[in-house]
Amino acid sequence: MKKLLTITLALCAVIVAMACGSNDPDVDGVTGATEQNGESGEGTAKGKMLLVYFSRAGENWQVGYVERGNTAIMADYIRELADVDVFEIVPEVAYPAAYNECISYVNDIEIPQNLRPAYKNDITNLADYETVFIGGPIWWARPPMIIRTFMEAHPELAAKTIIPFGTHGGSGVGSYTTLIKEYFPNATVLESLGIAGVSIRDASSKQTVENWLKKLGVDKQSTAINHVRTRTVDNGVSYSLNGMPSNNQRGLYIKNGKKYVSK
Ligand SMILES: Cc1cc2nc3c(=O)[nH]c(=O)nc-3n(C[C@H](O)[C@H](O)[C@H](O)COP(=O)(O)O)c2cc1C
Repeated sequence: MKKLLTITLALCAVIVAMACGSNDPDVDGVTGATEQNGESGEGTAKGKMLLVYFSRAGENWQVGYVERGNTAIMADYIRELADVDVFEIVPEVAYPAAYNECISYVNDIEIPQNLRPAYKNDITNLADYETVFIGGPIWWARPPMIIRTFMEAHPELAAKTIIPFGTHGGSGVGSYTTLIKEYFPNATVLESLGIAGVSIRDASSKQTVENWLKKLGVDKQSTAINHVRTRTVDNGVSYSLNGMPSNNQRGLYIKNGKKYVSK
């Protein structure tokens, strides 16, 4: 009992230290925090999209017992607002449902032994996707080891556009971006979004997810517009239906009075 209390206090210290030490102006404290990490490179995603996530139901930090984990709720928002296929990383051996048991297990066994927990039913068609969301919770200031299991099983991620996301108790999800860049230095990593688990069920969190997806150009409205384009033949410039010039000639366009569909 004393040991569990010590571990819980240590974890609180990790969370608070990470929250206070963040350079991100969007982090507004442990409760209700959202965090967006701007990344260099292209700002928008393209092609067919896959969402990969891990989440643990049961007792959790500041939310009590939940039937659906915090990151699973965030994944639900993304699934509703963007045109993604979904793969959930489900551990072969479930983590303890009790919060203190889980944090002890991760701190005493999984991290020190550098374990790679196995998961059920791996995805076999990753090659079909150009953009992959990868998300989960923060465990002891880093992504859970099972995220590493997934990355090591899929070296083809190196050629993808990757969008990190997740939920946390105050630490932010910058460590997802760091880990992804460590494994796949040549991948294009776009802006991540982290939301505090305690506020993920609030309507404002769904709005935050929607704003982020719009910024990335991957919400359903943006992708629909970007896939339907008109093309003027007079000056050789393409225009998408939102009025923005585009060099991308995919989608529907009109030329010499005829309609073309180009993929
Ligand atoms: C084992 C464990 C370790 C955790 N460590 C941290 C941490 O270091 N920093 C933090 O901000 N939150 C930490 N948390 C809180 C979770 O990141 C947060 O509750 C998250 O929303 C859980 O997501 P999930 O329900 O999808 O698993 C930890 C939670 C667990 C279970």
